[in-house]
Amino acid sequence: MQQQQLARKLFVSFLVALSCFPLPGLAQPPELPQEEVDALRQIATTMGAKYWSFEAGAGAGACRIDTVGVTEKKPKGSQKNIDCVCNFENNTVCHVVKLMIKGYSLPGMLPPQLVKLPYLQEIDFSYNYLNGTIPGEWASMKLTYISVLANRLSGEVPKELGNITTLTFLNLEANQFSGILPAELGNLVNLQTFRMNDNNFNGILPDWVQNWKQLKRLDMHSSGLEGPIPSNISLLYNLKELRISDTNAPSQEFPMLRYMTGLVTLYV
Ligand SMILES: *[C@@H]1O[C@H](CO)[C@@H](O)[C@H](O)[C@H]1NC(C)=O
Ligand SMILES: *[C@@H]1O[C@H](CO)[C@@H](O)[C@H](O)[C@H]1NC(C)=O
Ligand SMILES: *[C@@H]1O[C@H](CO)[C@@H](O)[C@H](O)[C@H]1NC(C)=O
Ligand SMILES: *[C@@H]1O[C@H](CO)[C@@H](O)[C@H](O)[C@H]1NC(C)=O
Repeated sequence: MQQQQLARKLFVSFLVALSCFPLPGLAQPPELPQEEVDALRQIATTMGAKYWSFEAGAGAGACRIDTVGVTEKKPKGSQKNIDCVCNFENNTVCHVVKLMIKGYSLPGMLPPQLVKLPYLQEIDFSYNYLNGTIPGEWASMKLTYISVLANRLSGEVPKELGNITTLTFLNLEANQFSGILPAELGNLVNLQTFRMNDNNFNGILPDWVQNWKQLKRLDMHSSGLEGPIPSNISLLYNLKELRISDTNAPSQEFPMLRYMTGLVTLYV
């Protein structure tokens, strides 16, 4: 009897000790900072979502968007995804690295509040009804992937987009962008894919595209840009796919393309 009581006392003391001094092996699971949870709600609101519920959970793979949209029910063909990485500060902190809200017919704007997710790398907001232009605030971000495919964005592409030199993928396709391409975009030296087709741009394809040495794919049919294609385009040694028109026309009109031996797909 006494032994049992002693054992119980010891066990209780052990539990008390454990709660005061958590063992390394029993550390708290990593969490997403409240500022990022709040920022996500602001982002959804700016994009015009009436519904938003988000589960930060605890630990890698735990963050999840439960509901987003203008209706509570998920639209047919819509896709949402969020990725958090949780190995920051010795596996105690998570950060949002990817955000996809695609095909929700969201009627708002592109969210300047993305800057409150400092570890964000990839965004896909395709197939919504977002209007306005690309927020200049994004200049300070380290994004590698932007898709705003098929929205209602308009006006000039801001020169600040040229500050996001980490970009490897940029899709502005099927919007109503106008004006010239700002020369600052020539700073995007890591770009591998640039799709700007189906817009209302003005002017010609600038010769500074020669800076895009990593470029593999360029889509500019129905972009509003006019010829001639600068000869400097032949300096894009990595280019494999070039679409200047919707149809495959004879390429003799563009003699410099002869030197682009890497080209696999060509619509000029
Ligand atoms: C991470 O853990 C190592 C070893 O336990 C320690 O030296 C370092 O200071 C810790 N860093 C942070 C940011 O907590
Ligand atoms: C964006 O849409 C809203 C709501 O329809 C409208 O009030 C606003 O003027 C639009 N902005 C632009 C730049 O088109
Ligand atoms: C963007 O780049 C320009 C130089 O092209 C620089 O002067 C400016 O400070 C940068 N802005 C940000 C927010 O990084
Ligand atoms: C592109 O090539 C043309 C003709 O060779 C040259 O005049 C121009 O300076 C080049 N552009 C750049 C940005 O180097």
